[in-house]
Amino acid sequence: MIIAIDGPAASGKGTLARRLAAHYALPHLDTGLLYRAVAARCLALGRLDDAPASEEAARHLDLSTLDPEALRTAALGEAASVVAARQGVRAALLDLQHRFAAQPGGAVLDGRDIGTVICPRAEAKLFVTATPEVRAERRYRELASRGEPITYDAVLADIRKRDERDSARATAPLVMAEDAALLDTSQLDIPAAFAAALAIVEARR
Ligand code: C5P
Repeated sequence: MIIAIDGPAASGKGTLARRLAAHYALPHLDTGLLYRAVAARCLALGRLDDAPASEEAARHLDLSTLDPEALRTAALGEAASVVAARQGVRAALLDLQHRFAAQPGGAVLDGRDIGTVICPRAEAKLFVTATPEVRAERRYRELASRGEPITYDAVLADIRKRDERDSARATAPLVMAEDAALLDTSQLDIPAAFAAALAIVEARR
């Protein structure tokens, strides 16, 4: 069974993906980390604006070396959405994602284009969302708890900018797949959101 989970930043999709993966004992890939890792490589080279350099970084990405802790910063979220708008970067990351999804038994993948582009035939598709204010509050708490010097207003501005960039881009924009179930987590705590996600998956498998 493939479970495809998409949605905007800090919608709760990552938490739900992790919990669904644990529940069904499936491997999980947070595809945002791929774009974050490409962005980190480009920033280290001082070449975020260099499209061929970002494609080269994407081609050489090694899943086993990704460090989620180091990659989940506000600055890399922003830089990731810049490299993620490039067709060549997305193309270079396709094969790796397809191979992950093709594991025997299935997999859980979360991102922006899993149900639409990466795994259009996934058995269960969720589109997880929440209001920008709720998402900013969640992301602010998460970043602040890790000691990032950041304000709520800056996080909200970043989320709005990323929503706009991810939704407006020409290649694999953030859109809900026609056959995805919409899950708005604005009013839900984690146990309630997980129960709702589980009910959706159970109804589809
Ligand atoms: O989900 P996360 O915040 O880690 O994603 C960082 C950025 O990577 C997103 O803003 C988006 O631009 C990009 N991304 C994407 N497609 C995915 C996952 C992430 O374009 N499947």
